[in-house]
Amino acid sequence: MLNKFHIHTFGCQMNVHDSEKIAGIFSQSGFQEADGSNNADVIVLNTCSIREKAEQKFYSELGRLKKAKKNNPDLKIAVAGCIAQQEKETLFKRFPYIDFVFGPDNIDNLQRWVTDREQDNNCDPQTTALKTNPYYHTKTLPVKRGGQVRAWVSIMYGCDNFCTYCVVPYTRGRERSRSSKDIFFEVKSLAENGFKEITLLGQNVNSYGITSHENIDFTDLLYKLHEIELIQRIRFVTSHPRDFSEKLIRAIKDLPNVCDHLHLPLQAGSDDILKSMNRGYTFEEYKRKIDLLRASIPHVSITTDIIVGFPGETEEDFQCTLNSLAEIQYDGIFAFKYSKRPGTGAIELPDHIDERTKSERLRKILKFQEDITYRKNKSLEGHLIEILVEGTSENDTEKMTGRTTTNKIVNFYGDSNLTGKLIKVKILDAKQHSLYGEAV
Ligand code: SAH
Ligand code: SF4
Ligand code: F3S
Repeated sequence: MLNKFHIHTFGCQMNVHDSEKIAGIFSQSGFQEADGSNNADVIVLNTCSIREKAEQKFYSELGRLKKAKKNNPDLKIAVAGCIAQQEKETLFKRFPYIDFVFGPDNIDNLQRWVTDREQDNNCDPQTTALKTNPYYHTKTLPVKRGGQVRAWVSIMYGCDNFCTYCVVPYTRGRERSRSSKDIFFEVKSLAENGFKEITLLGQNVNSYGITSHENIDFTDLLYKLHEIELIQRIRFVTSHPRDFSEKLIRAIKDLPNVCDHLHLPLQAGSDDILKSMNRGYTFEEYKRKIDLLRASIPHVSITTDIIVGFPGETEEDFQCTLNSLAEIQYDGIFAFKYSKRPGTGAIELPDHIDERTKSERLRKILKFQEDITYRKNKSLEGHLIEILVEGTSENDTEKMTGRTTTNKIVNFYGDSNLTGKLIKVKILDAKQHSLYGEAV
């Protein structure tokens, strides 16, 4: 009899949310969450293959579990997520102690596996658990949510963009939008259960609706969800710059509950590199959209993703990326060294950059942005800002923590019954990654 589960999640917010769905299925089947991996009967590794480093983390954890399984042969090990989809059956061959492998489109197969395990040990749902499922977006799975204030809501699955460095279109399959009705009811039920903030998830939310039978786009969806009054904040990730429209800028401005923060991955400042990445925009076009956004919502915060050391990136190309950071003045960036991914187009490109140069460029870019982020945060000192209180701070349990509409973290001394409330704080001190304030 299996009864305790533990999930170890690697990777992006989408994967964290998938783990909530996996937990939802376990809970619905009568399982309880174990305190950690040590006293679990089933361990799920929900994996990420976006970069080699993420992959390595999974393989070292898997190595650790080999020993755990030796000590406890009844332990079941399942592998989910993007590496599962990428490596498929080969995982069983290389690591025979794995019991079940299922892809991101097959989380619901877990249900069958769990039930079958309880009845007889010989079933083999493997062959169905790794097929991409064109109808996955029509399902609403049970979700065991990690928090009580903020919740993730999937609005679409997969990606059709095929950026040449990226593995996601191969691991998550073709783009599919969920029906606006299903999304609406999920958000409504979240509101009724006390949630105050939702983050809409998709690899490219700006193309929401294109693959749907409904005549609806992402902006229409925002207007529709905005009618759910108890939801006080709406966020979304990720926007693709090519599809980011003036209509969406108007929606962010018009709808008070849509947060004043945009994550718009630039990836590189050089047009040659952007072209070779198959991103579908030039720096000029990207910059024009940022200018329009800032003209319309001056205090909006903007963050981005940057890849350094993409094949063929010259010193001049890299300088273009530094220049773009200087020009745009982001509130924050996530920067990565280019990592070769199996099956992607960029592997075939000439002039791969050596590891030392990549590390040097990453160091430079992070250093360069550090000052910009710090200055931006510093400029908030003395200001009175509204935050949504999320609960006790993880790093300092004496303090409470919340977030501004612009997605900046504010820690402050306050009562725990403020959780879930919108309050005003005066910013007293700005740090690199957070602000410290006083509730007023
Ligand atoms: N769909 C989103 C995010 C995808 S993954 C988007 O299009 O922006 C998150 C980030 O990981 C990407 O924005 C990119 O900066 C980075 N990334 C993806 N593949 C990578 C690779 N092979 N090497 C390094 N960084 C990568
Ligand atoms: Fe990857 Fe590009 Fe799709 Fe983002 S838009 S998931 S970077 S292929
Ligand atoms: Fe997310 Fe990693 Fe897959 S970033 S989409 S879990 S490859």
